[in-house]
Amino acid sequence: MRKIQFLLLATAVAMAMTATAQQLPLYLDNNAPIEQRVEDALSRMTLDEKIAVIHAQSKFSSPGVKRLGLPDFWTDDGPHGVRPDVLWDQWEQAGQTNDSCVAFPALTCLAASWNPVLAELYGRSLGEEARYRGKDMILGPGVNINRTPLNGRNFEYMGEDPLLASRMVVPYVKGLQSTGTAACVKHFCLNNDEEYRHQVNVIVSDRALREIYLPAFEAAVKEGHTWGIMGSYNLYKDQHCCHNEYTLGQILKGDWQYDGVVVSDWGGAHDTEQAVKNGLDMEFGSWTDGLAWGASNAYDAYYMALPYKKMIQEGKFTTRELDDKVRRVLRLFFRTTMSNKRARGFLCSKAHYDAALKIAQDGIVLLQNKRIVLPIDLDKAKRLLVVGENAIKMMTVGGGSSSLKVQHEILPLDGLKTRLAGTGIEVDYARGYVGDTTGEYNGVVAKQSLADNRPAAELIAEAVAKAKGADYVIIFGGLNKSDYQDAEGHDRKHMDMPYGQDALVEAVARVNKNVVFVNISGNAVAMPWRDKVAAIVQGWFIGSEAGTALASVLVGDANPSGKLPFTWPVSLGDLGAHATGSYPGTWRDGHKIIDEEYKEGIYVGYRWTDKQKVKPAFAFGHGLSYTTFAVSDLRLDKSDVAADGTVTATVTVKNTGKRAGAEVIQLYVSDLSGNIEMPVKELRGFQKVFLQPGESRDVSITIGGRAFQYWDESRNGWATSHGKRMMLVGTASDNLPLKKAFTVL
Ligand code: BGC
Repeated sequence: MRKIQFLLLATAVAMAMTATAQQLPLYLDNNAPIEQRVEDALSRMTLDEKIAVIHAQSKFSSPGVKRLGLPDFWTDDGPHGVRPDVLWDQWEQAGQTNDSCVAFPALTCLAASWNPVLAELYGRSLGEEARYRGKDMILGPGVNINRTPLNGRNFEYMGEDPLLASRMVVPYVKGLQSTGTAACVKHFCLNNDEEYRHQVNVIVSDRALREIYLPAFEAAVKEGHTWGIMGSYNLYKDQHCCHNEYTLGQILKGDWQYDGVVVSDWGGAHDTEQAVKNGLDMEFGSWTDGLAWGASNAYDAYYMALPYKKMIQEGKFTTRELDDKVRRVLRLFFRTTMSNKRARGFLCSKAHYDAALKIAQDGIVLLQNKRIVLPIDLDKAKRLLVVGENAIKMMTVGGGSSSLKVQHEILPLDGLKTRLAGTGIEVDYARGYVGDTTGEYNGVVAKQSLADNRPAAELIAEAVAKAKGADYVIIFGGLNKSDYQDAEGHDRKHMDMPYGQDALVEAVARVNKNVVFVNISGNAVAMPWRDKVAAIVQGWFIGSEAGTALASVLVGDANPSGKLPFTWPVSLGDLGAHATGSYPGTWRDGHKIIDEEYKEGIYVGYRWTDKQKVKPAFAFGHGLSYTTFAVSDLRLDKSDVAADGTVTATVTVKNTGKRAGAEVIQLYVSDLSGNIEMPVKELRGFQKVFLQPGESRDVSITIGGRAFQYWDESRNGWATSHGKRMMLVGTASDNLPLKKAFTVL
């Protein structure tokens, strides 16, 4: 009897399972390969459903396919934290109460850490915040190359060097996507300045394009396997980059075999036919008021909405291009909204604040430290004077689309006060200068009252008077997130420090020899007084934990180990974009298009200063520490290297000082073959190593592949430069004492 019951039960279970298997469409089967699910879902979709998923339905979302159980898709900025929700059809924030996030340090700071492990942590932490907030794609990271310090958006990018940006973007993307949240690497491509960003037509050599401007995107695609790429606003070869035959069609989807989606920058699509043919997959932000054309639903009027459908119905296009776009969108759905492997969401967890703090501490750069004035001597100091608006100003609000609504942002003055509480050191404050006292972005208000109507002379006089008796004067100055500073939409008009800060620093430095200038910015600024102050710290925009991180570095709880991700010129003329007069370009077509020819070619940043023998204020890769390191004994595992082989360089690094700390071993290569014009040297590898006092370690860096190649314009492909090379190893682009020759066979 028991046996019969068991058999009956077993048969019933088996039948039920077959029925489920029969009923479950392939596209819903999480165990089926994604490509099969994509084809199955595609075959079930109507023309209207296909058209719907390739364009927006609100500011930041696009529809799924409700009939098939595919959810709507939600994007959000990016790249430093999850942007507060905005209203369905307006940029104004929606006023939610659960969207105050952690602000992670801006990407320039991440790049300055030269620490790929932290880039992974950054992406993963941000992805967890995005999961909590119900976002399926983060609009970032940005990897446009820093070509001029005037670019208002450099703070959102990863510096001037293609290798550094490549090594940092890959783990960021992987970390983010490990949570089931898509990255959308932006802005592809050649969006290297903000002024006239919709009208700039970039003219650049193929070699510079491939060697300087594309590698970080290429790495994000080929190694990071990014699921999203955002087309940029500007034009290239007279075509907007959101539907550019060459960059999207030939390079991204052709050469690189990219299988993800191309998302338009918001309002970056301009033409249905080009969008159809030239690789745009998802259109967002056209007519950003959402009401253009007076249509009942303005989103229907998008280039890739009804106008596209009409062209298909009229026979102008078959559904071949449409199906390719929809396949990519479906792939994105199965990777994100339809995945059963997504991470859980956490907002403002302790772990996220810890990550933000660690990244900030690792990325702060000690640029100058005369007489070892830093760290602040807690045993001797009695009075510390803090000066400057940036000591008390929130920096997470403003700057454009990366603006955030944070749960908290520790300000520098507060960070110092908290750290020094109980030490007996008195912390005084003087305003010093008044910059921009407003603080609002899309309805998120920095609730601070920064108004101060005293004239500049009075503010300076107060700072000078207070500085006289202080053991240290810490000036927090630099830029902020207001228009024409470090902000989207415009470039800076010059490299000078705004708001009369030069006069303030000069005056204070005359009466106190222990002046520390902490520069808050995402860009280099002119510092004509840099020899007159004792120390200079590059403090970036570092988000929620800014004050804590800066205080920890200033007092020496954290030992600075950041290195500049760009060359810091004395003045604009030190850099190719300006020395060649090619920035910002030349207007044509009655002021419709501005042609910007990158006349400096591959000579961007240190490649330019090396070639011109210009000594910058601070070199690429420069950054000091509170300890000292000895780097010695460079050895190569071979001196003759096959063109498709690799060579490994090993050095011994010793912490010769008294504090634990980290050093970045940097490896550059000079091509001495004489085959082709080459930069004096190029970064080919690096590694950050943390050492206790007295500890030493061997660090090995292996290079090969692209490190031996250049873009051969005559053959339109990568070519090996055979012959002699010099390997240069050290701790900054201007401090490379170890050399070894090798030959690429
Ligand atoms: C920016 C993008 C951003 C988008 C959405 C655009 O103006 O260029 O970087 O992701 O807006 O906010």
